[in-house]
Amino acid sequence: MCGIVGYVAGADTSGAKDIIINGLRRLEYRGYDSSGIALYKDGKFETRKSVGGLENLEKLVDDPEFDSYMGIGHTRWATHGVPSNANAHPHSNEDETVTIIHNGIIENYLELREMLAEKHGVKFKSETDSEVIAHLIGVNYEGDFLQAVHKTVDMMRGAYALVTVCAHEPDKIIGVRKDAPMIAGIGKGCNFIASDIPALLEHSKEVLIVENNETIIVTKDDIQILGADRKPVTREPLHITWDVDAAEKGGYDHFMLKEIHEQPEGIKDTLMKRLKDDDTINLDGIEMTKEDIEGFNKVYIVACGTAYHAGLVGKAAIEKMARIPVEVDVASEFRYRDPFVDDKTLFIAISQSGETLDTLAALREAKNKGARILSVVNVVGSSVARESDDVVYTWAGPEIAVASTKAYTTQLVCMYLIALFMGKVKGSIDDKYYKEIIAELKTIPGKVSEILNREGIIKDAAERFFNKNDIFFIGRGPDSGVSLEGSLKLKEISYINSFAIAAGELKHGTIALMDEKTLVIALDTQDFLFEKMLSNIKEVKARDAYVIALAKDGHTDIEREADEVIYIPECRDELTPLLSVVPLQIFAYYVAKCRGCNIDKPKNLAKSVTVE
Ligand code: AGP
Ligand code: GLU
Repeated sequence: MCGIVGYVAGADTSGAKDIIINGLRRLEYRGYDSSGIALYKDGKFETRKSVGGLENLEKLVDDPEFDSYMGIGHTRWATHGVPSNANAHPHSNEDETVTIIHNGIIENYLELREMLAEKHGVKFKSETDSEVIAHLIGVNYEGDFLQAVHKTVDMMRGAYALVTVCAHEPDKIIGVRKDAPMIAGIGKGCNFIASDIPALLEHSKEVLIVENNETIIVTKDDIQILGADRKPVTREPLHITWDVDAAEKGGYDHFMLKEIHEQPEGIKDTLMKRLKDDDTINLDGIEMTKEDIEGFNKVYIVACGTAYHAGLVGKAAIEKMARIPVEVDVASEFRYRDPFVDDKTLFIAISQSGETLDTLAALREAKNKGARILSVVNVVGSSVARESDDVVYTWAGPEIAVASTKAYTTQLVCMYLIALFMGKVKGSIDDKYYKEIIAELKTIPGKVSEILNREGIIKDAAERFFNKNDIFFIGRGPDSGVSLEGSLKLKEISYINSFAIAAGELKHGTIALMDEKTLVIALDTQDFLFEKMLSNIKEVKARDAYVIALAKDGHTDIEREADEVIYIPECRDELTPLLSVVPLQIFAYYVAKCRGCNIDKPKNLAKSVTVE
């Protein structure tokens, strides 16, 4: 789930401690609850672990004697056993000859634990699923570390990025991955292994992506990759062009605010990289003919959280422009409901990280049933991207804050481009409409900047209402999907109880909750639903709720009904989600700030959810 860093250099060097801890720092954004490090010293691996932030681990290892030329470090996001020193990684076998760190879940760990206890008398020190791996490698060791690792992996079920070291062979780090990310970095006189690129970017820009079921053996001057069949494979390194600074806060108090402000750029990049001079769309070379599109009888859009909310907007766009029925589902539900998927289905996965396990599993389910898989992903080379037939990348850049912002708006741009592309090829939209939408899309980055210039108005509202216990979001049509996203942003970073509902549905139950203490944020950006929404605002006002409305510039009639109004620039109804979400992100941010919350790393959440 969380962070892995391994480093090995020449035995006459030192400095592994700082390199590993700095690498773990770069992975902090993924969320974690404890951390640990193991360094090779005096013939064995010495481990230190600590609960809480990395600063606790740093204090613990603040000892010049504790350093090495090689070691491994881990940030843990607990799945099995509470966050504690004992449960933090690394874990070792009883004679401490084998030490491991692990991301993911070992599904058959109970069975393995029992076997190890009964057959080998192993006494466990932690409640984790991961600890079994260290003991298994230990009992499987017969003079060859790699063989012991392979024998162990063959006994494990589940998802893992496993990194391990052995006191008998202290020149190497071995890694194996299955359904959890792992990469290696090529250094000068040293090499690296990690769960994500930022961990090693300070030291290496040449990265090797490890594929599912592959093993890597990292020594100071070699990185060997073995395929699922355990035979050597050759892999070209990927040259990384972005540097660590791109992942820094750049003057903002929080990554989230920085990322909110990066949206005009992200939207522009995502859009303009696909538009040719004549405004035709080049969808990253994806080949989809009229026959292909006419052959789809259904589109499934499957994702989680914010990406799912982008899917809701995508559904409206594809149905309107490509005239194909679209179903949107959360990945954790889709995979267990035996969905109607076949070779006439287009399956679209949306994921910022490209590593969300639920989304990946849903994708595999659809793939097995013959669907064509198209994904919208931010992280290049991620698992979702690699397992798809076609990929449309969002050009949002690295998103560090747990609360997703620029990934959402760039996902929307991709969904509009996919819908337009399909509609154009299929002939279900005419040239005039196509050109109008493209022209309007080009104005969006400027309009988002305009909203960011109005940040003060939204901040002011947040400063007046941050103490509310309940905040509702209502809207109709596209506004109802954006309401869900606004509400999710607010609850995940401010911990305020928030609820979003289609405004017309209020009267069927939820309106019972309205009273003078309730704040309602009412989205009313759709011209054809404007009046209907005014009635819904009236309904909640009649129950004494306080209403902040969101409307397009010039729609001042709304001031008669709402208590206050936040305006967004004029825009075609289809594209308003690209704008209306921005004030909601800003509102959530300042509410959380007023409440003193840990905005970039909210409690209980992780950036990349690689467990089921
Ligand atoms: C967004 O603010 C959330 N933290 C979360 O819902 C997220 O969107 C979800 O976990 C999906 O992640 P993905 O886009 O990386 O697949
Ligand atoms: N399942 C392991 C544990 O709970 C690993 C968690 C992680 O991925 O950080 O220790």
